[in-house]
Order: sequence, then C-alpha cells, then structure tokens
Amino acid sequence: MTGGTTGATCRICGGTVQECLDLGRQPVSNAFLEPKDAGRETFYRLTVGFCTSCTMVQQLEEVPRDAMFRTDYPYRSSLSTAMRDHFEGVAQHFLDEVLTGPDPFLVEIGSNDGVMLNTIGRAGVRHLGVDPSRDAAEVARRQGTRVLVDFFEESTARAIRAEDGPADVIYSANCFSHIAYIGSILRGVDVLLAPEGLFVFEDRYLGDIIEQTSFDQIYDEHFYLFAVHSVRAMAERFGFELVDVTRLAVHGGAIRYTVARPGVREPSAAVHAMLADERRRGLAREETFLAFGAGIERIRADLVKLLGELRADGRRVVGYGATSRSATVTGYCGIGPDLVPFICDSTPEKQGRITPGSHIPIRPPEAFRDPYPDYALLFAWNHAEEIMAKERAFREAGGRWVLYVPDVHVR
Ligand code: SAH
Ligand code: TMP
Ligand code: ZN
Repeated sequence: MTGGTTGATCRICGGTVQECLDLGRQPVSNAFLEPKDAGRETFYRLTVGFCTSCTMVQQLEEVPRDAMFRTDYPYRSSLSTAMRDHFEGVAQHFLDEVLTGPDPFLVEIGSNDGVMLNTIGRAGVRHLGVDPSRDAAEVARRQGTRVLVDFFEESTARAIRAEDGPADVIYSANCFSHIAYIGSILRGVDVLLAPEGLFVFEDRYLGDIIEQTSFDQIYDEHFYLFAVHSVRAMAERFGFELVDVTRLAVHGGAIRYTVARPGVREPSAAVHAMLADERRRGLAREETFLAFGAGIERIRADLVKLLGELRADGRRVVGYGATSRSATVTGYCGIGPDLVPFICDSTPEKQGRITPGSHIPIRPPEAFRDPYPDYALLFAWNHAEEIMAKERAFREAGGRWVLYVPDVHVR
C-alpha cells in the first residue's frame, strides 16, 4: 500500500474529518495495465469523511499525484461529443461575456487535450493551459494551444505571473477537486488572478452523487466531493468569495462555481438558494452518509446477483466504457473477467490493456459488434445518451443495457 494516510485532519481548515464511508482497497483508477504487468498496480484505501468544522467531504488517504497524473495519463476529454460541445459553449461564453477587455488572458488548470482552450486559442485570445499529463498536452499543442506541462500550484502560478502577467480568468474543469494540496492551488490563484478576475471551476456535485447513489464517482482522483457550503467556506478561508453557482447536467451532475475577490461581485441569488437547499437536505450530516452507505451496499448486492444470474443462464455480458469510475465498481463489487470478459472503450490508449485491480481486458468498440452480447454493463452511464444513440443497433438486435445508477436496472 502506498500513499500517506492524512489521518483525520481536514486538508482545508485543520478541523476533524469524521470517516463515514469505506470502499475498501482500491487501485489507482486510471492506471490501465499491460497484461504482463498484472499485479503490479498501486493500491490504497478508499475512505471518505466529512469535516465537522467546514463540512468539506474528502478522502482520508492521498494517492501521490505522480502516481495518478503521468506522461501517459490516458483520459482524453475530446472523445465525447457531448463534452466537446459543453466546453465549446464554456469557451464561447468566456469570449462573449468575460474576456472583453483589452488583451485578456485566460489560464486553464488541467487543460488535458485542449478541449476547451482550443476554442480560446482559435479566437486569438492569450491563454495558457497547465497540465502535467504530457501526452494529452501534446494533443493540445499540435492544435496550436499553449500548454505548460506541469502541476499548477503556488510556485507555478508565480512563474506564470512573472512571464505573462495577471489572468482575467482562471478556469478548471474536473480537476480542482482532484487536488489534495488544494491550499497551494488557491494561494496560486491569489498570486495569478487580476484584481477583478474570476476563478471558475466545474466539478461533480456531492448533492447529485448522494441523490443518485453514484458511488462510482468516488475514486482516487476525486479527492474532494464539493458542495456549495464547503466550497464557500473554502473560498472565504483563502480570501475569496463565492459569487455564483450553476448546476450542470454533465458527468452525472456537476456545479460551475465562480469565485472572485471580496467585493468584486454580489453573490447571486443562486448561491443563497443552493445554500438553503443543502441545509434542508442535511448534506454534510452523518445520517445522510449512513443512508448513502446503505444504498451503495444495496447496489452491490443487486448487481452481483444480476450478473451471477445472467451467467448462470448462459447470457453473454460485456462492459461498455472503461471509465476511471469502473475501478470502484469492479473493485467494490468483486467483478472480474469471469462476470464481464471484456470492456469496450474508444480510447486508443486504453485498448489492449487491462483494468487496474479487476484485470478485465479492454477492447475497441468494434469488438462490441462481433457479435453483439446479450447484455452490456454501461460503466460510462454519464454518456448514456451518446453511447445508446451510437449503438442503437445493439438494442434493435435484442441486446439490453444494464445500469446501476441510481439503482440496478435493465434498459
Ligand atoms: N479539464 C478536462 C480534463 C479533466 S481530467 C475535462 O474536464 O475533461 C483532469 C486533468 O487534470 C488531467 O489532465 C490531469 O493531468 C490534470 N491535473 C491534475 N492535477 C493537476 C494540477 N495540479 N495542475 C494542473 N493540471 C492537473
Ligand atoms: P468518463 O466517464 O470519465 O468521461 O469516461 C468515459 C469513458 O468511456 C472513456 O474511457 C471513453 C469511453 N467512451 C466510449 O468508449 N465511447 C463513447 O462513445 C464515449 C462517449 C465514451
Ligand atoms: Zn475542514
């Protein structure tokens, strides 16, 4: 086991973190292996707790960042049409509404393959992506996007400020919550952000995760599970103010948070409404997590039962979407190649490899049709609409999708 235990101290406020969920021994989720390396993966204990002072939900054990985000980190944002459209919309919004002053400058933390920045770059606006995953960054660079291959933190922010000056917008999607050392990021934002600048970030929403019992959203990279309460407290602790929140349907439910220096903008009505809603729902209360934990156990029992029955009936089941989330599902439910002989995935970097921990082979989408299985376990349920449309012929041929969010069901 690697990764130092953080104990029960909140990484943001130093308060006490009360453990409330134990998903067991899990591998680094995006470390898809060559078959010959089976057994060489890194494991850690996937446990979640909430801070009794600032309410931030966080993991208790941290995986070293270099074990997750390496040169060959395989995730590519641009592979989903829906996400490409989403980020084009984000870029267009910044271009039309925010980056309107003279010679504006935008920095993105976790720019991956340039899915958002490419639009900013094409518009001729000064920009810089920061991302330690070199192979993904090279994809962005080939399209003319400017990327610094490094981890964003306080020291990186100082170097950028010295070279490029202050940023009007600092943007980050599905990355800020991945960073255990989040204080260094926020001090970096303080160094780099222009006085009237905006720090905008999008991350999965704790409220949606609990509501849908989407426990597979919990894996090494999702170190924090943000909610409006906890993000507001975090922003204030580092000298900022949460001024706006927008709910997003992407990735099974997320929120776009807008943070500014105090006094730059009045917090919107949406912030107040979401705070009241979270209070009503008791989002960071122990009982909420006990019920969530019970829901997770129910899903595990139902899914294992269904897959066992299908196997006993001689039905062929394959997986669809070798997501990082599938590591938590297969690991927690004990699903291996005996129940799901392979998973199809469109990512070339994942094909030919096996899933970490559960050792399920990953094949290209063509393997799905050759011939169609009886059932497909949809690990990429957050892309259900796009995938089901693409694979319409599977259902027309009598195939059925198995989903486990918000409960185990066949479609
Ligand atoms: N923003 C994209 C990519 C999300 S994947 C999207 O929403 O689809 C998360 C990305 O964050 C990875 O490419 C990873 O390399 C990067 N990352 C992780 N820690 C980082 C850090 N400290 N600074 C910058 N990028 C980081
Ligand atoms: P994500 O849920 O983390 O975005 O990962 C989705 C995974 O599913 C990723 O590995 C790519 C894969 N995928 C397909 O195989 N086919 C598709 O049509 C889509 C949208 C994703
Ligand atoms: Zn705290």
